[in-house]
Amino acid sequence: MSARFAGKVGIVTGAGSGIGKATIERFVAEGGTGIAVDISVERLNQLKNEFEARHQKVVIVSGDITQHRTIDDIMRAAGDRIDILINNAGIMDDFVPLDELEDELWDRVIEVNLTSVMKLSRTVIKQMLQQGKGSIVTTSSGASFKSGIAGTAYTTSKHGLNGLIKSIATIYGNRGIRSNGVAPGGTKTNIMDMTKPIRGQKTMELLGVNLANAPRTAEPEEVAACLLFLASDDASNVNGTILSSDGGWSAK
Ligand SMILES: NC(=O)c1ccc[n+]([C@@H]2O[C@H](COP(=O)([O-])OP(=O)(O)OC[C@H]3O[C@@H](n4cnc5c(N)ncnc54)[C@H](O)[C@@H]3O)[C@@H](O)[C@H]2O)c1
Repeated sequence: MSARFAGKVGIVTGAGSGIGKATIERFVAEGGTGIAVDISVERLNQLKNEFEARHQKVVIVSGDITQHRTIDDIMRAAGDRIDILINNAGIMDDFVPLDELEDELWDRVIEVNLTSVMKLSRTVIKQMLQQGKGSIVTTSSGASFKSGIAGTAYTTSKHGLNGLIKSIATIYGNRGIRSNGVAPGGTKTNIMDMTKPIRGQKTMELLGVNLANAPRTAEPEEVAACLLFLASDDASNVNGTILSSDGGWSAK
């Protein structure tokens, strides 16, 4: 592995599983000081054990990313330098369509997938502005471009994220800060509990049509590679982009 991230401090949210886990693993393997954030203490402890077994270090911060105290804990763990923020934590909405959508589900999905990204980015960017340099990368989704592959709340949250990503890019691009996103297609992670029946049957019918021309399901490492390319100095001229990592699904 190259030392692409040597000397860099990076935060990855949702690092206990799936895409976030693959991202923190590669970031640290490539020399970075990684801060792994997740709501699941169990997953973080497991992650830490795996790092220690490989004689690697990772800093873990457990907490709900929607809570201000978690943001405070992340900032404390990072210290006085943050080079990279990877906003990756996210939840699904069980494919629930509008006429079945409760306020509670809408509020939680928007809070986790969108509002918390704004709040953490808002805090981190103040540090990056002092440094005059920083890279923010956010895990968006194929559902940020089109509907019919998730429920109403998830689709709306991810469409909103693309606006946030571009707004940060445009306003802060000339101050040394880049903001980009990755839009994965179907990826093998724990985001859906396949043991439970899915609620949003109306959306599932549409998904069936959309899946008919979907490429294979990706490995989380393939999406992590895209997040880390955008985070790295290799992408020094890339700002405000939403990069699809979906085997070409969005092009069909
Ligand atoms: N898996 C896919 O097919 C797919 C497709 C498109 C986009 N995405 C996006 O990828 C990102 C990562 O998801 P994944 O597929 O790896 O799922 P995952 O469920 O395997 O991992 C997400 C992690 O985020 C954590 N998390 C959830 N809510 C949190 C909160 N409030 N605070 C802190 N941590 C929290 C979870 O505990 C989990 O460990 C999400 O933003 C998701 O929307 C996934």
